[in-house]
Amino acid sequence: MDKFELVNRVLPQPQAAEATDEHFAPSNIALCKYWGKRDSELNLPINPSLSVSLAHLGTRTRVEPIEGPADDVWLNGLQLRADTLFAKRLSGFIDLFRQTSHQAFRIETRNNIPTAAGLASSASGFAALTLALNDSLKLGLESSALSMLARLGSGSACRSIYEGFVEWHMGHRDDGADSHAHPIDRRWEGLAIGLIKVDEGVKSVDSRSGMARTVESCHLYQSWPLQANTDLMKLHQAIESQDFTLLGSTAEQNALSMHATMIASWPPLVYWQPDSLAAMQKIWALRQQGLEIYFTMDAGPNLKLLFQQQDSTEVLAHFPDLEIVMPFGS
Ligand code: PMV
Repeated sequence: MDKFELVNRVLPQPQAAEATDEHFAPSNIALCKYWGKRDSELNLPINPSLSVSLAHLGTRTRVEPIEGPADDVWLNGLQLRADTLFAKRLSGFIDLFRQTSHQAFRIETRNNIPTAAGLASSASGFAALTLALNDSLKLGLESSALSMLARLGSGSACRSIYEGFVEWHMGHRDDGADSHAHPIDRRWEGLAIGLIKVDEGVKSVDSRSGMARTVESCHLYQSWPLQANTDLMKLHQAIESQDFTLLGSTAEQNALSMHATMIASWPPLVYWQPDSLAAMQKIWALRQQGLEIYFTMDAGPNLKLLFQQQDSTEVLAHFPDLEIVMPFGS
C-alpha cells in the first residue's frame, strides 16, 4: 500500500480550505529510540519507542489557501524557494491531504528551538503542519489519527502530537493504520534535559538513509528490537516509580546500543565527533564522583543530558553553556 491510499482511507471528505491560526507542536527527545523501518514508504518502525516532549520548544505553523499552482513556504520569516529540500518535503506532505484538489497553500512555519541546540525540528515541524491542515480542511481528526498522519512526514513526528511522555506503538498491520503514538499519563516535575551542542552543521547521513544502511548491513541490528523492547519496559517502570537512576541509565544504554548498530554498519556510520566522546567521558567521570547525570544522543554529534532539577547548579558549573529544558516545569 502506498501512503496516498492509506491517507485516502483515513481522511474524511475535506472541506474548502480556510486560513488558520498558528498551531504548536513540541519537539521531542526519544529515551528509547526509533531506529529501523519495516516499511520505508509508510514509515513503519521495527521497534516501539518512547520520548519526552520539550514543553514550549518546538514549531508553530499556520496555513492559508492561496490562488495559483504552487505552495509558498516561509521558514522563520524567510520565504523559501520551491526547489529547496525543505519546501519540497513540506509540499510533498501536503499533497497527501490535497487528494484530488489542487489547492495551494501559503505555509508559515517558525521554530523556537534554539539554533545552537542541535535539535532536529522535523518532528515538531510535521506535527504542527498536520495540526494546521486538520484545522484548515476542517477534518476533525482524533489525536491518534493525527499522530498516524504526522508519522508519514517523519516517523518521530507521530510523538510530537502530544506533550509529556509519549510512546509510539509500532503496530502490526501492513497498512500502518495501528502505528501511532499515545501519551503516557504520568508527569515528572523536576526532570531536566540539557542540550549540549557539539556541532550544528547538517549531518552527513540523514536518519532515513542511516536507518536503511543499518538494517541492511549490520548483523548487530538483529539484537536491537530485543534491546528496545526491554528498555521500553524499564522506562515504563522508571516513569511509574519516578526512579531517575533507572530512567537515566536505561536511556543512555539505549542510545549507545543504537549507536553501536550504526558504527557496525557498512560503510560505518559514526555520528560522533571527538567533542562528543569528550562530553561522554566527562559525564562518566562526574557520575563516578556522585553527580547523577546521564545522556542520550540521536543521529548526530550532539548530546542531551538528563538530570534532576536539584542538581542544576552543579551541572551548570560543569557545563556553563547548557540550554536547560524542563519538560514538566519545575
Ligand atoms: O523521525 P526521523 O526519521 O527523523 O528519525 C528519528 C531517529 C532518531 O532521532 C535517531 C530516534 C528517535 O526516536 O527520535
